[in-house]
Amino acid sequence: MTFVVRADSVSKNFRLHSERHRSFKDKLLRPGQGVTTDFTALADVSFEISSGETVGILGRNGSGKSTLLKCICGVLRPTSGQVLVRGSLAGLLELGAGFQPELSGRDNVYLSASMLGMSTKSVDAIFDDIVGFAELEQFIDTPVKFYSSGMYVRLGFSVAVSVEPEILVVDEVLAVGDERFQAKCMDRIRQFQRDGRTILLVSHNADQVRTLCDRTLVLDRSQLAFDGPAADGVRVFRERLMGASPVAGAAATRSAGTIDAVSMPSGRFVATTGEKWEMSVAVTANEPIEGHFVMELHNERGELMVRSDWEVAPVSLSPGSHVIHVDSPSMSLLDGAYQVSVGIVSDFGSQALVWREQAAVLEVTYRGRGAGIIQLAPRVRVS
Ligand SMILES: Nc1ncnc2c1ncn2[C@@H]1O[C@H](COP(=O)(O)OP(=O)(O)OP(=O)(O)O)[C@@H](O)[C@H]1O
Ligand SMILES: [Mg+2]
Repeated sequence: MTFVVRADSVSKNFRLHSERHRSFKDKLLRPGQGVTTDFTALADVSFEISSGETVGILGRNGSGKSTLLKCICGVLRPTSGQVLVRGSLAGLLELGAGFQPELSGRDNVYLSASMLGMSTKSVDAIFDDIVGFAELEQFIDTPVKFYSSGMYVRLGFSVAVSVEPEILVVDEVLAVGDERFQAKCMDRIRQFQRDGRTILLVSHNADQVRTLCDRTLVLDRSQLAFDGPAADGVRVFRERLMGASPVAGAAATRSAGTIDAVSMPSGRFVATTGEKWEMSVAVTANEPIEGHFVMELHNERGELMVRSDWEVAPVSLSPGSHVIHVDSPSMSLLDGAYQVSVGIVSDFGSQALVWREQAAVLEVTYRGRGAGIIQLAPRVRVS
């Protein structure tokens, strides 16, 4: 197999220097010698990425994702091990990396494109496209230090994709842009995929990773905890590392219990569009749980079809085994097979207390003649 990016036992240590906890006497006797400790941000990480793959990198805050991308982009040198890259690479790293704050947007475009190997002439040819995509025509001669974080990222992304690298590396900065711009970026990233380019993407949006990526690397406390198909990686990330959080932006850390089983009355996981359905969820609580029931349905492509409203489904569990009964008067989804994920989240949905990703596959049958995703069931009357 030919690789375009290969990491061989990559480790990265940062030396942390601290003057704290030193006595005055100690400082007088040994000036300039604070306490130094080595912090391991990446430990023995190895993988190979082939040409044309889209790889999502998931992990909690501080797990080493940005450090890994910086090693791949050559911004940081691994303490041990090595990274090999074959082909042109453009990276959009953390905010603040890449641009010279005092220079205008225009000068930064030329500077960063030339660092990516483009001549001034070739930048001239694509300059208007870069600025146009970033929608910064009015501000292109303003020093970038006056840009908002969203403007900064728009220009950075626009430069990175416009130089048409063989390998595109994007840290989660895209989340800074507004939704409309994010959608534009996603279109560009899909275009990159169709062109057969290689993409490495850090994202905290697990649904996005599942939808976009072929493969996922999960980092956990500096180590590579998983390398495999995207949907499995998302499950590992949510279940094992995050304690699973279905609600966007939520940060869960602990598991207050387990979802032991989900079932439907007929014994099979089936429902019919427009008809009543019910489901039982067996839960064991390790501690008292005050929370809200949430379920998600994903389609076969991993796209989120629906996440139920936590607010209307409070649950209160004492330690021990329980069954949560769920029913709804009408299945709105049209036919398809849907992955069912269930759990209990805290108030405001900010933390998953218990979660089971892909607990079952629900087969929905539709007997009508409509098309699309959901049943609209309009009533019609002529007057
Ligand atoms: N230059 C540095 N000096 C010292 N420590 C650093 C440096 N850069 C990163 N670290 C530490 O290394 C660890 C990994 O950081 P990194 O930025 O790679 O995490 P991350 O997974 O990208 O997190 P986030 O999701 O918050 O972006 C963190 O504990 C961080 O504090
Ligand atoms: Mg980061």
